[in-house]
Amino acid sequence: MRVAIVGATGLVGGTFLKVLEERDLGITDLLLFASSRSAGKKVNFRGKEYTVEELNEDSFKGRGIDIALFSAGGGTSLKYAPLAAQEGVLVIDNSSAWRMHEDVPLVVPEVNPEAVLQHKGIIANPNCSTIQCMAPLKALEKYGIKRVIYSTYQAVSGTGYKGVQDLEEGLKGNPPKTYPHQIVNNCLPHIDVFLEDGYTKEEKKMVDETRKILGLPNLPVTATCVRVPVMNSHSVFINVELENDFDIEEVKRELAQTNGVVLLDRVAENIYPLANDATGKDEVFVGRVRRDNSVKYGINLWTVADNIRKGAATNAVQIAELFSKGM
Ligand code: A2P
Repeated sequence: MRVAIVGATGLVGGTFLKVLEERDLGITDLLLFASSRSAGKKVNFRGKEYTVEELNEDSFKGRGIDIALFSAGGGTSLKYAPLAAQEGVLVIDNSSAWRMHEDVPLVVPEVNPEAVLQHKGIIANPNCSTIQCMAPLKALEKYGIKRVIYSTYQAVSGTGYKGVQDLEEGLKGNPPKTYPHQIVNNCLPHIDVFLEDGYTKEEKKMVDETRKILGLPNLPVTATCVRVPVMNSHSVFINVELENDFDIEEVKRELAQTNGVVLLDRVAENIYPLANDATGKDEVFVGRVRRDNSVKYGINLWTVADNIRKGAATNAVQIAELFSKGM
């Protein structure tokens, strides 16, 4: 398998390399692309040195690339993903550019792997906060999902190196360069741009992508997305209203058995999912599972996952693995 990484010098790009080194995708050759700023940079992969190339319109021509993992921003994906697909490359795109396009499957491998079969050259990786909510919601599907409310607590690594820098520099007393306000000692209810209706684009992504992945186009979903001074791993509170009654202990057992989910819910011992513990892992951690007594059949969940791994790089590599395993 000849694999290309677009955005190879970024935070997600670097994690693509790490995840690919850990897993067995059957890579025979690797091609690394980034902007002109990084052209010529050397990168080590499994003991071999690779040179980063500047991405251009000819990057995919006649190079026999099977799969390209993109994480270089929406503008780059909008322009270059179709050029790659035209050359027969299967693009797995981490940006938001193609997620809601009707010809583009939006995939969390534990939840809707069959969707990849509909691809026309581009498959989208969902938003990081959305990804970690999908397997827990899928586990509740049998009770009938009536309404979903998300509140997110998102790490600065979700903004790439620039976000990490704002937190690191802020801790030294320096002013922010990326966020509109200081992130140290603050929670910023502002991720991505504001839309006309007062929601942010990040909140809209969570609403639209949840409906698409679960195949419930009319599901009532609302979200508030907040950037918090945490270096890595997103936490999301999910409130779910269900159509039918459930037994809370049975739901816990079902979550514990869900592929890709680890139940951490022993409150008597102060055990629940935490960002520091999730960092470096590929699973979604779920805890604080409890009945919402304000409605007839409601449930509250707390989920934590590494937003750069499961929320981006690992999920994309798992999509690629569906093909290497011959799906
Ligand atoms: P570069 O390092 O050369 O700027 P992050 O999200 O961590 O900031 O990473 C963004 C990634 O996307 C980097 O690898 C960056 O490359 C790459 N990138 C940004 N703009 C472009 C572009 N116009 N063409 C190709 N790669 C780009």
